[in-house]
Amino acid sequence: ARPTSTRPDPFKLLAPQLAELRTSLLSMLGSGHPAISEITKYYFRHPSKQVRPIIVLLLAQATNGLGGDWSRKLWEAECEHAGGRADELDRPWTRPDLHRHSKPTTFSEPSSSSSSTLAHTVLPTQIRLAQIVEMMHTASLLHDDVIDASALRRGAPSAPASFGNKLSVLGGNFILGRASAALSRLGDSEVTELIASVLSNLVEGEILQLREVKLDEEEEGAASSSSSAADTDAITKKIRDGRQTSRDAWNVYLQKTYLKTASLMAKGARSAVVLGGCREGEVWKEIAYAYGRNLGIAFQLVDDVLDYESASATLGKPGGADLQLGLATGPALYAWEEHPEMGDLIQRKFERPGDVELARDYVLRSSGVQRTRALAQAYADKAKEVLQALPDSEAKAGLEVLTERVIGRKS
Ligand code: FPP
Ligand code: MG
Ligand code: MG
Repeated sequence: ARPTSTRPDPFKLLAPQLAELRTSLLSMLGSGHPAISEITKYYFRHPSKQVRPIIVLLLAQATNGLGGDWSRKLWEAECEHAGGRADELDRPWTRPDLHRHSKPTTFSEPSSSSSSTLAHTVLPTQIRLAQIVEMMHTASLLHDDVIDASALRRGAPSAPASFGNKLSVLGGNFILGRASAALSRLGDSEVTELIASVLSNLVEGEILQLREVKLDEEEEGAASSSSSAADTDAITKKIRDGRQTSRDAWNVYLQKTYLKTASLMAKGARSAVVLGGCREGEVWKEIAYAYGRNLGIAFQLVDDVLDYESASATLGKPGGADLQLGLATGPALYAWEEHPEMGDLIQRKFERPGDVELARDYVLRSSGVQRTRALAQAYADKAKEVLQALPDSEAKAGLEVLTERVIGRKS
C-alpha cells in the first residue's frame, strides 16, 4: 500500500470535474415553470458528498482502455465532438451548455505506472451517467423525505418542510423524467436496463422497509398481492405473526440495504464500465458491480450507525430517526442477540410510549453499534479486495481511499 500522504484524495482528484458536473446538471433541470425549477434545484444548492458520481467517474477512469471496444468508443466520442448530433438542432429546448462535455476529458496527468494516456480518459457518456446517477439519488431523497416526514436535509429545511409533500413528490418525478431522457440519449440498451432496474430496486427497498415498519390492515392486503421475493414474503408473514427471528430480520435488513442504497452504486459502477466498451465475458463489469455493491452496503451500515452516534447538527438531518420511524437497523438487531427483551420491542416497532427510549438504552448497553461498524468495515474491505484485479492507476488508488472514507465519515 502507498503511504497515506501520496495517496490520491478522490474528492480532490475530481474536484473540478465534480463542480462542473453539478453546474451542467442544473441546466438539465430547467423548466418553463418556476416552481418546478425551484424545487428540483433545491437539494443541489447544498451539495451532496457526490459519492455516487465519484464511483462512476473513478471506475470509468480505472477501466477505460481495458475492454475490447475501447477504440471504437473513443472514435464515436470524437465523431460526436466534431459533428454534433443533428437531432439536437431540432430541439429548441436543448441548450448548448448541456453539451460542453462533448470532448473526452482527461482528468489528471497519467501516473508513471500507466501504460497509456487513454486509460485516463473519461467519455462524455460516462460523465453524463455520473449526472444521471446523482439525479436519481436526489429524486429518491425528495421522495424519502416525504415518506419519512423528515424536517431536515443537509443542514437546511427539507423539501417537504419548505414546499410541502405534493411539490416534493412532483419535483422528484420531474428529476426522474429528465434523468430518463438523458439515459435514453446514452444510446446503450444494457445501461438503460441496468439504471431503470435501479428505480424498481429503490422502490422495492422502501416497500420492504415499510412492511417491516408497520403492517396495518390496508398495507397487509396490499402486501400479499405485491410480493417481491418468495423468501421475503415468508419472512414478512412471520413478522406479521410475531414469529420473526433475529436471523430473519437480518436477511430482510441486508436485502433492503442492497435495494435502497447499494443497487444504485453497484449498477451505476457497472454501467460506467459498459459505456467504456467492455465486452460480454470480460471481468471488469463484475469487478465494478462487486465494488459498488460492497461499498454501498458499507455506506448504509455506517449511515445506520451515525443515526445512533451523531446529533442532527453534525448529520445535517435528524439523528435518532430510525427508532422513531419504527426501524430496527444493524445496531438494534445486534442488541436483540444480546438482550432478548429487544425482540418484543422490535416486533411491535417501538410503538408503545417509552419503547423508543428503552430500545435506545438496550442498543447503547449492547455492542450493537461497534458490531455494525465492524460489519461495515468487512464490506468496505471486500470492496477494496475486488479492486485488486485491476491494473494499478491513480483512479484505482482513489477507489481504495474511498472505501476508507466511507467508513471514516462523520456525516
Ligand atoms: C434514504 O434512506 C433513502 C433512500 C436511500 C432511497 C429512497 C427511495 C425511495 C423513496 C423510493 C422511491 C424513489 C425513486 C427515485 C423511484 P434513509 O431514509 O435511511 O436515509 P436518510 O437518513 O438520509 O433520510
Ligand atoms: Mg427513508
Ligand atoms: Mg430518510
